[in-house]
Amino acid sequence: GLWPVPRTALLASTGRHRDHMGNEIDEQPVVARRVLEALAPGIVDGSLWRGLGLPSLDTIDRVTVVGCGTSLHAGRALAGVFARLGGLPTRTLVASEAAHEVWEPRTLVIAMSQSGETADVLRALDALPPRHGTVLALTNNPSSTLARRSDAVIDCLAGPEVGVAATKTFVAQVLTGVCVALSGLSVFDRTDSARLGADLRALAATPDGLAAALDAWRGPCAQLATEYARASGFLFLGRGAGLVYAAEGALKLKELSYRWAEAYPAGELKHGPLALVDAGTPVFVVDNGDPRLDVDIAEVTARGGRVIRFGERVLTVGGVPLHLPRTGPSWGPLETVVPLQLFARELALRLHRDVDKPRNLAKSVTVS
Ligand code: G6P
Repeated sequence: GLWPVPRTALLASTGRHRDHMGNEIDEQPVVARRVLEALAPGIVDGSLWRGLGLPSLDTIDRVTVVGCGTSLHAGRALAGVFARLGGLPTRTLVASEAAHEVWEPRTLVIAMSQSGETADVLRALDALPPRHGTVLALTNNPSSTLARRSDAVIDCLAGPEVGVAATKTFVAQVLTGVCVALSGLSVFDRTDSARLGADLRALAATPDGLAAALDAWRGPCAQLATEYARASGFLFLGRGAGLVYAAEGALKLKELSYRWAEAYPAGELKHGPLALVDAGTPVFVVDNGDPRLDVDIAEVTARGGRVIRFGERVLTVGGVPLHLPRTGPSWGPLETVVPLQLFARELALRLHRDVDKPRNLAKSVTVS
């Protein structure tokens, strides 16, 4: 079947940290490898897409991804694959806003939810008119309410996640979604084979890329957290596919450290947020190789802002240059989520926050 891994084999992360979150961050390369071992063989021949019982892409005019929080961000990465690689009209929708949407027929709805019990996501499905199309649930709980209410279900195989702030489930959701999307685009010939080949190679390199990011950034992120422990706010910038990760980095920082953090498309900087930047303001840039980021960064540094650049080029942390491999697949530089998670956790630990149970938040929000 589609799930060669028995669910009983999926255990909570263990490791050297006292908090669950630290161990869940560290487990990400293992989770990525598990997802790819299970799903990658079904991409090129389309058996993954067909095995899920999903309809022909010839009967689908658009894809709408719904979710909340980190699942919504994973959905944005996945939407990029349908849009950038397959040229399919795609949108992502905050689940709690679904009632205000106009729904069209021939839509593939992808409902993203780690728990499968988030009330806003379940209510979004209630808002769908009859004959809207197909609902695929992408969840870490294949026996959840969401899974039961959907036409097709895929398990993201992350294993139990205990920390309230999602980490390994984000990586698992992105990769699971990417495999499904690539499978559909490939079997219905919606993409050129050179680009598909490049994405498949990038996918295969992801577990090692995540492991390399953990090794490269663990020390520098601890150092950065000490340096910025007193900062009251942070800006996160990105362009294109990098924006997803900027948004996820800002969310992690808010959840864990209770500091203000805002993610912006870097091109919007000049339309407002630049007013926030003065001497020492930390500005995190997700570098997906877009050359226009150099101009955005120059705007920040000209005002004395401190740019910390995560991605394929750069990085001077304490005078030490670091390099990560360039990743340019249609879902963006997934590996950059690692330093963003590490930084948020390190900062929160320095501020004596409970990184597994941030104040005011719940792992699964079953009220809407
Ligand atoms: C809560 C959690 C978040 C999570 C969101 C969506 O707000 O604190 O970490 O991303 O719900 O949860 P779901 O289970 O639907 O992915």
